[in-house]
Amino acid sequence: MSYTTILIQKEAATAIVIINRPNKLNALNKETISELQNAFSDLQKDKNIKAIVLTGSGEKAFVAGADISEFSDYSVKEGRKLAAKGQKKLFDFIENLSTPVIAAVNGFALGGGLELAMACHFRVASDNAKMGLPEVSLGLIPGYGGTQRLPQLVGKGRALEMIMTAGMITAEQAHSYGLVNHVTTQEELLPLCHKIIAKITNNSSVAIAHAIKAVNAGFKNTVNGYEQEIEAFGACFGTDDFTEGTTAFLEKRKASFPGS
Ligand code: COA
Repeated sequence: MSYTTILIQKEAATAIVIINRPNKLNALNKETISELQNAFSDLQKDKNIKAIVLTGSGEKAFVAGADISEFSDYSVKEGRKLAAKGQKKLFDFIENLSTPVIAAVNGFALGGGLELAMACHFRVASDNAKMGLPEVSLGLIPGYGGTQRLPQLVGKGRALEMIMTAGMITAEQAHSYGLVNHVTTQEELLPLCHKIIAKITNNSSVAIAHAIKAVNAGFKNTVNGYEQEIEAFGACFGTDDFTEGTTAFLEKRKASFPGS
């Protein structure tokens, strides 16, 4: 299959999926989400592929979030649908993939970008990476599983501080939080992923698929949290704060929230 917003490179038993919109810091638009869905679905069926690395093109960003220009005029219903469809078709799908998926976080991983990295089985970052969930600065909340996966990975207090401040943490901080497993230079990021994959692919892929399923089962009690996130994310689209937050971003100015 040919894609316009992503690239796929296959090296022996590894597939590298590269989100390729560097001029927009690899922001996730509808087309990218749909292409990623198709790519992951195809790669899971490819018996020659034993591991997948997900990364962003260029030296600046993994993914700087969902594409704000696409949803700035959405209604409550459309906002709800955006979160529900994205979660089911891509983020939950990656988390439950039977093939191991490593996020190689090569720069900004913000909003939907960090949520995408968190949906992967684990993360490796380059030392220039910056991570955060800045949605409340837009009058929104994370809608692709961020309110559930961030506390699972870093603990509730750190997650709430990151969400409430809308701030970014460095790769080193993310490492100390347990959000990423390793930090290295940009040049060494993919070689390190390959080294880890060499260890993974020595093992039984059938057993690994069962292990992924078993580990994920332990977090299924949060299923209502994901539902709550979808409802709350949708509700944000009915607020004046959301209109102001997204308009300010697109007009390249600081938001001044009316508070409704
Ligand atoms: N959605 C849409 N476009 C985005 C984007 C996003 N999430 N993130 C970056 N872009 C676009 C910018 O609008 C800009 O496009 P332009 O050149 O056509 O104007 C381009 O990518 C480069 O970004 P820019 O903001 O100029 O780079 P920077 O180095 O000054 O700042 C960031 C980098 C990551 C701090 C900044 O882009 C940013 O805050 N992005 C939004 C992050 C966010 O809120 N994500 C959550 C969305 S729910």
